[in-house]
Amino acid sequence: MKRVRVIGTGSYLPEKILTNSDLEKMVDTSDEWIVARTGIERRRIAADNENTSDLATKAAQRALEMAGVSADEIDVIVLGTITGDYPWPATACVVQHNIGATNAYAYDISAACSGFVYALSNAVDYLQAGRGQKALVIGSEVLSRVIDWTDRNTCVLFGDGAGAVVLDLQDGDSGVLSSHLHSDGSYLELLYQPGFSTRHMATPEAIAAKTNTLKMQGNEVFKVAVRSLTDVSKEALAANQLTSEDVKLFIPHQANRRILEATAKRLKLTDEQCFINVQDYGNTSGATIPIAMDEANRQGLLQEGDLVLMAAFGGGFTWGSSLLRW
Ligand code: ACO
Repeated sequence: MKRVRVIGTGSYLPEKILTNSDLEKMVDTSDEWIVARTGIERRRIAADNENTSDLATKAAQRALEMAGVSADEIDVIVLGTITGDYPWPATACVVQHNIGATNAYAYDISAACSGFVYALSNAVDYLQAGRGQKALVIGSEVLSRVIDWTDRNTCVLFGDGAGAVVLDLQDGDSGVLSSHLHSDGSYLELLYQPGFSTRHMATPEAIAAKTNTLKMQGNEVFKVAVRSLTDVSKEALAANQLTSEDVKLFIPHQANRRILEATAKRLKLTDEQCFINVQDYGNTSGATIPIAMDEANRQGLLQEGDLVLMAAFGGGFTWGSSLLRW
């Protein structure tokens, strides 16, 4: 049997670190409040000359290097992002050019914080359909440019970063076992970014009022996120006749430590089974899972045969899981 394996991981975090005490000087907040409610201690912020494609390019190059694969061997690039360089063309095309993946076709996926899980599922389906041998899947975000830095309800939560994986279709039982994706557009207004867009044009009034930034009703998002992350993780385990005890590492979307701990508790996962790095990077949306996977991989936490469960939830609402044998 042929399965799609992860043969290389990479990530890139911008140099600039914004701590909670830095935020105390910007809005009416405190390190104590942020740590207690979110677990976040610091986040990275892209430099003025760094764009989503730049972060994605560096993460992709690191993943290719680990895999020992040259860019021209890649058949498809799928990039999960909601902060692309341009409304169009796809940021994946910019990355394709930057890395010299001349034989790949490239496109973006807009699924907010579920972007990486959606992108992974797309790439796996493509390879498993026999239409290619190798894929590059990336999650990359510069959320710092779509946040209202005067709104304490949201600005403390997010950060910038990118992660990437190289996929290869191989014989054997290891690789991605299943993907489960879901959406429910009825929740749009609980978490979205109005613009600027064709629906929310950049008029002088809208620009002056900065009405384009991310909007969120945190309390409501929290409840649905825990429920959805739990359900979609159970769905993945049940579909493969596995239980949470079989999981070596749970790599959830890193939104908020409380969301992750509540989800892990419902899934009966131990602390050792959960990979959490939200304290260092905050919520980097579609980039959190591949960044976490790269960190776990480079720390030697992932060994051949280990069962890895990923679950994500984000704007749309979108949510999904992916189960893989390393
Ligand atoms: N500093 C200090 N006080 C604050 C801050 C802040 N940064 N932000 C809000 N508060 C205040 C509120 O104004 C409110 O004050 P009030 O009682 O006087 O009105 C009080 O703290 C409590 O506010 P709540 O919103 O009820 O606080 P809550 O415990 O729900 O925590 C949070 C807020 C952290 C946003 C939480 O709801 C959450 O994490 N939600 C999930 C949101 C999320 O992760 N979104 C990311 C995208 S989706 C995803 O990735 C899963």
